[in-house]
Amino acid sequence: MHSFGYRANALLTFAVTILALMCAMASLSDNFNSPSPTAEVQVLNINWFQKKPDGDDEVSLTLNISANLQTLFTWNTKQVFVFLAAEYETPKNGLNQVSLWDGIIPTKEHAKFWIHTTNKYRFIDQGSNLRGKGFNLTLHWHIMPKTGKMFADKIAMTGFRLPETYR
Ligand SMILES: *[C@@H]1O[C@H](CO)[C@@H](O)[C@H](O)[C@H]1NC(C)=O
Ligand SMILES: *[C@@H]1O[C@H](CO)[C@@H](O)[C@H](O)[C@H]1NC(C)=O
Repeated sequence: MHSFGYRANALLTFAVTILALMCAMASLSDNFNSPSPTAEVQVLNINWFQKKPDGDDEVSLTLNISANLQTLFTWNTKQVFVFLAAEYETPKNGLNQVSLWDGIIPTKEHAKFWIHTTNKYRFIDQGSNLRGKGFNLTLHWHIMPKTGKMFADKIAMTGFRLPETYR
C-alpha cells in the first residue's frame, strides 16, 4: 500500500514532467513560426540641427514610425521590446548606433501601429560628423518568450540623409 506522501510525490513528479514537456513544446513550436514583420519610417521634419557648444552635432527629428509586428506573436510570446536606431558610419567609429525611440508591445493587438513622434532620445554624434550624413533607420526587436530563449531581429530602412548645413 502506498503512503499518502508517496502518492503526492508521484503526482508532483508527473505534473513537473508535463510542465517541462509543455515548455519544450512551446519553445519548439516557436521555431516553426516564420514571422513576416513590416516596418516603415518617414522623417517628416528636421526640427533643428546644430553644433552644441561642446562641438558635438545634435539633430531633432519628427518621425512617423509604422510597423506591423503581429506575426512575431505566438502563444509563447510574453511581450516584444522594440527600438528605432539611427545607424551611420564615421571614420573613427565604424558603426554608430543611436537609439531614437523605444517601446514595449504587450500584445498582438498592439503590434500593428503607427506613431507620430519627435525622437524620444537625443540624436547626438560624438563629434561633428552629421552634416550631409547618410544614415539608416533600423527597427530592432527583442521577443521575450514565456519560456525558452529570447530572440532578436531587425529591419533596416535605408537612404536617409541629414542636411548639409545646420539650421
Ligand atoms: C504615418 O504612416 C501611416 C502608415 O504609413 C499613415 O497611415 C499615417 O497617415 C502617417 N501619419 C502621418 C502623420 O504622416
Ligand atoms: C544600411 O543598410 C544597408 C542595407 O541593410 C547596409 O548595407 C548598410 O551597411 C547600412 N549602413 C549603415 C551605416 O549601417
